[in-house]
Amino acid sequence: MSKIKTIAVENSSLDNVDFNNIPFGRVFSDHMFSAVYRNGEWQDLKICPTENINVHPAMMALHYGQSIFEGMKATVDQSGIPLLFRPEKHIERLNASARRMCMPEIPTDIFLEAIHRLVDFDKAWIPPQEGSALYIRPFVFATDEYIGVTASQNYRFLILTLPVGPYYSKPVSLMVERKYVRAVKGGVGEAKTCGNYAASLLPAKLAKEKGFDQVMWMDAHEFKYIQEVGTMNLFFVFKDRIVTPSTDGAILKGITRMSIIDYLKGEGHKVEEYPLTIDEVKEAYKKGELIEAFGSGTAAVIANISRIKDTDIDMQFDASHWKLSTEVKSFFNGVRIGKVPDKYGWIVPVNSQGN
Ligand code: COI
Repeated sequence: MSKIKTIAVENSSLDNVDFNNIPFGRVFSDHMFSAVYRNGEWQDLKICPTENINVHPAMMALHYGQSIFEGMKATVDQSGIPLLFRPEKHIERLNASARRMCMPEIPTDIFLEAIHRLVDFDKAWIPPQEGSALYIRPFVFATDEYIGVTASQNYRFLILTLPVGPYYSKPVSLMVERKYVRAVKGGVGEAKTCGNYAASLLPAKLAKEKGFDQVMWMDAHEFKYIQEVGTMNLFFVFKDRIVTPSTDGAILKGITRMSIIDYLKGEGHKVEEYPLTIDEVKEAYKKGELIEAFGSGTAAVIANISRIKDTDIDMQFDASHWKLSTEVKSFFNGVRIGKVPDKYGWIVPVNSQGN
């Protein structure tokens, strides 16, 4: 017998949504999942209308940043069956973030049942268009009312869902960040925790003022090794191989990233993960041996990079060379809607019973 109670909205707001024109992150579907952690266990599990929550001004997440999240997607196949992309990898990563931030883990069965039941309940909110999806945002935060630096005893776990199109609607231009850093080895860069994103805002704003979409983060010790973009991991397509920076504790372990590596290897490409220097990228570009670069992430899926600017070079990537990224994107988008066979076993059909 499921422990998840269900309370449906009286009036759905679905009719107000234009699936052909959805601003990313601003439109929420009718229902959310909610659970509280109290006396050492997750309880009060429910699917309920998406609504405001009351918080005390001293809620610890607001003061000391114990707050973690995931980003996942649900799509529909050709016959309208909702599909999830690697949900088990997302609960593994959420719990890795929880451990790093000294927060309670979410039992895998609760997480998966909540996702399946919530997506099934709001399946009419999944945009059918290729490249669009229902973005799923599970998040956990500290709720003790306490001013003092210690781990909270109480937490809340919520899941929101949002119909979305692609996060980046056009190719992305990057500025190599030479002053600020996103994360250090031994820090929290590998955790999907809110402060990592807050730390990126000022550098991103300064880069935007210079005409770039995002910064490309470098390692915090030497500003020598490429890390990631913050909204996505990075891949560089050289003449004879594809390289993505190895995860070193300061880089988010992207689930799209790991899936792309599997796909490319499966297609017979040479894929390497190592601490990639910006100098190697620049040298290859100068010799004409860097074909393209792209970013990967749940929200971004696969985003072409149009430009990478460093202090001494402005690398431009021509759309006519975006062959591999186009192939990867079409495979991922196709698998997500059941148009392309799921040969890696990534897709999990939504089960209305949540198991
Ligand atoms: C995701 O890709 O799911 C993220 O959390 C990144 C953010 C740009 C939405």
